[in-house]
Amino acid sequence: MSSCLDAARPETAPAETFRFRPAIHFTAKNTWLNDPNGLVFHNGLYHLFFQNNPYGNVWGNMSWGHATSRDLLHWTEHPIAIACDAAEDIFSGSVVVDEGNTSGFGTVDAPALVAIYTSAYKAASEHSGTQAQSLAYSTDAGLTWRKYEGNPVLTRNSAHFRDPKVFRYQGDRGACWVMVAVEAQHQKVVLYRSEDLKSWDFLSEFGPANADAGEWECPDLFPLPVDGDPHNIKWVLIVNVNPGAVAGGSGGQYFVGHFDGVRFVADACSVAVPGGVSALGDSAAAAAALRQCLWLDWGRDCYASVSFSNVPDGRRIIMGWMNNWDYANHLPTAPWRSSMTLAREVRLTAVNGSARLIQEPVLADPCAGEELPAAKDQMTTDTFELRNSALRLPDAVPGSAQIIEAEILPGSAERFDFRLFGSSDGSKGTILSYNTTSAQLVLDRRQSGNTGFHGKFPSVESAPLVLEDGVLTLRIVVDHCSVEIFAQGGKVVLTDLIFPETENRENWLSAEGGPATILKLSVSTLN
Ligand code: FRU
Repeated sequence: MSSCLDAARPETAPAETFRFRPAIHFTAKNTWLNDPNGLVFHNGLYHLFFQNNPYGNVWGNMSWGHATSRDLLHWTEHPIAIACDAAEDIFSGSVVVDEGNTSGFGTVDAPALVAIYTSAYKAASEHSGTQAQSLAYSTDAGLTWRKYEGNPVLTRNSAHFRDPKVFRYQGDRGACWVMVAVEAQHQKVVLYRSEDLKSWDFLSEFGPANADAGEWECPDLFPLPVDGDPHNIKWVLIVNVNPGAVAGGSGGQYFVGHFDGVRFVADACSVAVPGGVSALGDSAAAAAALRQCLWLDWGRDCYASVSFSNVPDGRRIIMGWMNNWDYANHLPTAPWRSSMTLAREVRLTAVNGSARLIQEPVLADPCAGEELPAAKDQMTTDTFELRNSALRLPDAVPGSAQIIEAEILPGSAERFDFRLFGSSDGSKGTILSYNTTSAQLVLDRRQSGNTGFHGKFPSVESAPLVLEDGVLTLRIVVDHCSVEIFAQGGKVVLTDLIFPETENRENWLSAEGGPATILKLSVSTLN
């Protein structure tokens, strides 16, 4: 293990960074994390493996950390699952439950968990300079892992072939394992099939298309019914891109289409720019085209989102890394650095005749078999009118996350603002606005608190948002260093990190330019 001790030791925690530790988002206890890996539900537990530096709080020594949860909110961290060594770093990948024991690693009665990860080979390896796909398996329900002696199981002699997501495919020609991975620098998703997880045959490739100005990473492919109709199944291909996302730096896009066991074909309406936006250069047309692509999240801080395998009842739950490679190593926290987003249940719904993803945060999970402690109400209101005035909402509560739910009929108001973690003089805060003229939801974190640790951190994000029956519906989850916004029932999602000053805890809602009707407003806490 000492062979990969090449990163900084965790700093001693400066007192002021303690308060940024999230209440309901996963962080490693005192180390660095990035992408969620090997998300799988097994024996009543959600397993979250993750890119982890066991020796420091910046990227390096990549290994798979491990945590489990019954409800996707309370996590227990376990020892490192798969550790880097002199020959390889353990990059991102997935875990499947090998029902049927196709790999021979377990038994039919006690199927093994099999991890398919990227071996990022180092100088000491005979494969040095390449990235290839390898296996590790666990026969004790994910607690300990053994690498397969036949690794790697799939190589293309490429330096950027990585991030395998494997799933069980059942089609007219029977069942097999399918892998989606990337040729990151060619902006391609590559697909392979296997009977036993050990030997893989090439199927097809997809891309470049839409956002392709950076490397393509961490893909996922899964089926979902449109509006719950079992006769109308579409496939969703998630492709993370870094840099070149809509808010700058890293972000996640998706395509909707059809997968026949060999090839993914995107519906024409999910491909805004068939050849990819990079062909348009650094132009206004490219920037406009980027906003036509389908984004999982319009904020700065949601990357590498992939889904859990094996979740019962056909539910599809994704989770992302709440950070951006633009400044990831510089976040002002110690000894931990970086957290995951909330788990989000995704569904497909028809929007103007096209299937689109909606996401809802998982704040109470039926699979957990237990009731979560109910969120504590801080405030609920009946309908009222807000006219050129500001309403003070309950303050942020240290130790808890806050959930603000609102249904607003903007009427003749030109805009209204939520000011979160605000100062009493009104000069500081994170501003979430809806602008009725431009029909944009805007998040401005330039005065959110500590923004000075990296030049690319102060920012303003926006997402196009169409009112439905004139109404804006918002669910805002505010934790100690993040804001996640789920608007219009999860059709528009926006996630940003923030690092507010301790003394700034005031929350306000205001309307400008005319009266707005607040149909519903509630604020509750969860810890
Ligand atoms: C995405 C990524 C992956 C890679 C991992 C390395 O954030 O770059 O492509 O497997 O991180 O930590």
